[in-house]
Amino acid sequence: MTTDPQSPALEVEGLTRTYGGLTAVDDVSFVLRAHGALGVVGESGSGKSTTARMLVGLERPDAGTVRIGGTAYDAVPRGRAARLARARAVQMVFQDPYLSLDPRVRVRDSVEEVLRLHGTEGARTVRARAVELLDQVGLGPREQEALPRELSGGQRQRVAIARALAPEPDVLVLDEAVSALDVSIQAQILNLLRDIRAERQIAYLFVSHDLAVVRHVCEEVLVLNRGAVVERGDAAEVLAHPAHPYTRLLLASVPHQGWDPAAIGRARRAMSNATTTKTSQGAAQ
Ligand SMILES: Nc1ncnc2c1ncn2[C@@H]1O[C@H](COP(=O)(O)OP(=O)(O)O)[C@@H](O)[C@H]1O
Ligand SMILES: [Mg+2]
Repeated sequence: MTTDPQSPALEVEGLTRTYGGLTAVDDVSFVLRAHGALGVVGESGSGKSTTARMLVGLERPDAGTVRIGGTAYDAVPRGRAARLARARAVQMVFQDPYLSLDPRVRVRDSVEEVLRLHGTEGARTVRARAVELLDQVGLGPREQEALPRELSGGQRQRVAIARALAPEPDVLVLDEAVSALDVSIQAQILNLLRDIRAERQIAYLFVSHDLAVVRHVCEEVLVLNRGAVVERGDAAEVLAHPAHPYTRLLLASVPHQGWDPAAIGRARRAMSNATTTKTSQGAAQ
């Protein structure tokens, strides 16, 4: 597969997914530039994970296209070759690394497994490449020999990152990847992610409900409300001067000095009523 270095890492056009009567993802389009970092924010249930899952081919969209490195991919890959090609284009890191790590497989073996599957080791041995990847994510010889349960949450997330990097994907999708970690460990993983992007040709789609975390990692941000993009732009700019009422509400919902949860609750209900009225008027037409 040829990858045009000028093409965006990821181009998403009209991505839509419904569950019964619910539109979880509503006509979402965006471009993630090569080597860029785009944050996807929105409160719980806004369609962030469904979007992420469609990008990596875990979920079938009702409509829309996904292009990675200039190549169009099937909604859900069929067959081994297609699955491997998709996995080399895009990898995902989940909130809970326990779900992606086999409890019986030692850390270094689990990275070697991925390398063997993809045959990306070249002339060097799989072992040497696994050690190099694990060194890069800050795991030393003791952790490399360990089982997942013998590691801390932050260390397990480092293993998940090393495994995701192993196929050398164009895009890394991180879905709430630091949300389950203590704040101090969060900072370490975020710094690691910044270092990795500085050293490699890789782009991040960084999904998080935590606006402070997104501001730290991303240059651009996309705000989802009920599956639809309501605002997008430069991350620092959008988060400092939000234009859409929903983005303002999201920012106001973060605990801060003079915080008024009751007022936020009222504003949220007012906005949700306005949306419902608009929808029912639309349906009556
Ligand atoms: N497999 C599913 N079946 C039915 N509804 C789903 C499924 N997955 C997600 N949803 C619904 O789609 C909406 C968006 O969910 P999700 O993408 O997980 O949001 P987020 O990650 O932003 O919290 C929610 O209302 C959720 O209940
Ligand atoms: Mg989610």
